Amino acid sequence: MKKITVPIISSMKDKEKIVMITAYDAPTARIVDEAGVDIVLVGDSVGNVIQGLSNTLPVTVDEMIYHTRIVSRGIQNAHLCADMPFMSFQSSKEDAVKNAGRFVKEAGAESVKLEVTNDYIDTIREIRKAGIPVMGHIGLRPQSFHDMGGYKLQGRGKGEGAELLALAKKIEDAGAFSLVLESIPQKLAKKITRSIKIPTIGIGAGPDCDGQVLVINDLVGLSEEPLPKFVKKYAEVRETMKEATKDYVDEVKKGVFPSSEHSYD
Ligand code: KIV
Repeated sequence: MKKITVPIISSMKDKEKIVMITAYDAPTARIVDEAGVDIVLVGDSVGNVIQGLSNTLPVTVDEMIYHTRIVSRGIQNAHLCADMPFMSFQSSKEDAVKNAGRFVKEAGAESVKLEVTNDYIDTIREIRKAGIPVMGHIGLRPQSFHDMGGYKLQGRGKGEGAELLALAKKIEDAGAFSLVLESIPQKLAKKITRSIKIPTIGIGAGPDCDGQVLVINDLVGLSEEPLPKFVKKYAEVRETMKEATKDYVDEVKKGVFPSSEHSYD
């Protein structure tokens, strides 16, 4: 398999669906890379999924750099994108460029993702000027859940839909190479996807996006229920781990493990 680069991702629009998945550690990155995903995203969802937080706001740049660095060790072919956490780019364009640069220089990221509004179009331009590819993220922006009044479907009304479409075009003009559409009606996602030349990657945005992204723990069944409507579980890893651990507890308590097979003479 060949290394997936930004130009390859751009060329996939209208030809082949793009598959993105999150990962937060090296062994998981190796598994998803071997399984053939196109993009591995080190999402700030690390806050919910790994750190046990109820939202992503406390996740720091240093924590994201640590996770991106260890994920990079597991990847051979997939493109590696790092999420810029809350307040790593909102404070100033200078901070945004500096922090985006840290992801590339210190952690091996090949692009960065930003949850953006109209206020951050110039920020995308500045990061691009430094030669760092940018993935935009619009619709439901978890870093702004206070402002949005919770984790709600976005772009439902006509006006809201038109605003998101206009924003997507500005993000494309600013030089982003792809755009995540989170939790928006599928018709709107289709319209946005057809109106811009950069690939869209949907999560809760229906089947007409150029690609899809899911959180690894959700799709393998490692996350606790309830899960959002848009998640499809492809395995029951949480149950498998619990059963394996119960068997281990049982065997140690009964003196069955370790047997001579697992002991040294
Ligand atoms: O943080 C994350 O995992 C994300 C994806 C779900 C798009 O932003």
